[in-house]
Amino acid sequence: MLIRTFVLTAFQQNTRVVVCEKTRKCICIDPGEASSELVDFIRNTGLELQAIALTHGHLDHVGGTAAMAHEFPDAEILLHEGDEDFYYGLPKQPLFLGIQPHQLASMGLEYDEPPRLTRNWQDGETYEVGELRFSVRHCPGHTKGHVVLAEETEQKVFVGDCLFLGSIGRTDLPGGDYDQLIDSITRQIMSLPDETVVYSGHGPETTVGRERTMNPFLTGAYQLSKGRYI
Ligand SMILES: [Fe+2]
Repeated sequence: MLIRTFVLTAFQQNTRVVVCEKTRKCICIDPGEASSELVDFIRNTGLELQAIALTHGHLDHVGGTAAMAHEFPDAEILLHEGDEDFYYGLPKQPLFLGIQPHQLASMGLEYDEPPRLTRNWQDGETYEVGELRFSVRHCPGHTKGHVVLAEETEQKVFVGDCLFLGSIGRTDLPGGDYDQLIDSITRQIMSLPDETVVYSGHGPETTVGRERTMNPFLTGAYQLSKGRYI
């Protein structure tokens, strides 16, 4: 497996191209925008983009889908049905975040209507990319339709905005639920071996073992009811 990360958008989102080195098939996980570096990397290294693989429907993760689909029309587009409202409502998402209409252009947040999804992720399905096999795990809590993609042979998991180095995803946006997120992380991510490398939607990589022992939201050091560290 080869992984190339592009940090894109005003939100410093980690867009990743994940490649089966044997077959040169790849997926693009969460194209926040279709930067020329991203497009050129896929084109100029002879990769076949099989899919635009979306962990969830927030704008900084799906904003480049239309442009990527234009560049790579054979790629399928996959998202869990729970986040379709976010996805198809993309042009309006910045307004819900409190961004004013006159700010959209300068922030790179003017979006076209997104293309139709090819299909929805199904919890528990195995998604094959050449010789890579991703298990698709529904992880609601940051959004209703968030999924993570685990390649268990390679011991790598792509977690979007569920889990970060020392932190977890926001739960104050529409569809967010703190208890549900903790439950999702515990069942669908922490059940992977400690050595599994965690690739988050923002910030650096970590491991399941590190988060199991150090992440204050998972060790119990942080109590939401008190709203502060204890
Ligand atoms: Fe998000």
